Amino acid sequence: AASDPDLVERARAAKAKLGDKVFVLGHHYQRDEVIQFADVTGDSFKLARDAAARPQAEYIVFCGVHFMAESADILTGDDQQVVLPDLAAGCSMADMATAEQVAECWDVLTEAGVAQDTVPVSYMNSSADIKAFTGRHGGTICTSSNAKRALEWAFGQGEKVLFLPDQHLGRNTAVRDLGMSLDDCVVYNPHKPGGGLTAEQLRNARMILWRGHCSVHGRFGLDSVADVRERIPGVNVLVHPECKHEVVAAADYVGSTEYIIKTLDAAPAGSAWAIGTELNLVRRLANAHPDKQIVFLDRTVCFCSTMNRIDLPHLVWALESLAEGNVVNRIRVDEETEHFAKLALERMLALP
Ligand code: 13P
Ligand code: SF4
Repeated sequence: AASDPDLVERARAAKAKLGDKVFVLGHHYQRDEVIQFADVTGDSFKLARDAAARPQAEYIVFCGVHFMAESADILTGDDQQVVLPDLAAGCSMADMATAEQVAECWDVLTEAGVAQDTVPVSYMNSSADIKAFTGRHGGTICTSSNAKRALEWAFGQGEKVLFLPDQHLGRNTAVRDLGMSLDDCVVYNPHKPGGGLTAEQLRNARMILWRGHCSVHGRFGLDSVADVRERIPGVNVLVHPECKHEVVAAADYVGSTEYIIKTLDAAPAGSAWAIGTELNLVRRLANAHPDKQIVFLDRTVCFCSTMNRIDLPHLVWALESLAEGNVVNRIRVDEETEHFAKLALERMLALP
């Protein structure tokens, strides 16, 4: 639907009033009505880097989800304030690993005698607490665009990796990019005593995968791939690495949201594509490339409901408040958490 012209005008006026004082970041899964006001759009890696590269902006308005705004706060200067237009924009995957659960997991690994050989690698989609745990134990953060390099780095530091919290990105990267076998991976279930694993299983594993997943990407199945291949002969199937392993194995291309956009930009006219990621992005791509056939991988729609919480009314409210000198919905990570989380994030930013 077209955006409300009155709200569009108000957003424009508030942004103009703020000038260089405000910098608006927009993740690719954001609604069109919000994306039109982003100074920069990107995948989670690009947005983390761009937030850190804007020292002159007093306010960073993050149109994305909570863990992204936290990371921006960690990476920006103390005089910069990060605002999330709706505090309810969380991420169900990030919520699947709490600080208590991860501390308990580390105790389990310690008892099994494997903790000293294990390097934590945490997906960006995690709370600042989990990033701090990762930094404290010599690990790194990764995103879907650098997971391969992060794992290669981690296996240069230790024999095993504890991958948090997305089991699919961990498994897909280990198997597809590092040539490991599925048997090298075990799944740690935080809801079972000892993670549901024996000490022997932990000793034999190379990848200890946390039992987390994205419910948006989890909806794509092998049936979605078979169905679209039958409907559109010659279709290229392009999916995000948060999809299940069997879906990724059946796809033709796999990568982050930024990779998906670049791949379609470079695709020849007349080619057909089925995309396995969030729907706002897929619809925007279909509109941007009328010369290509671009469809959603599944027959049912699936938005990320928390990404969608950031809508134009929330953005207008945040911008107008800032323009009046009133900082609303500030995201602030405490100093100690920030210190260790920053170590882990900086290891990521330094990856070759
Ligand atoms: P990207 O880093 O590929 O943008 O992914 C972020 C995300 O939340 C995917 O669900
Ligand atoms: Fe979290 Fe999935 Fe939404 Fe990404 S798409 S923000 S992983 S719930």
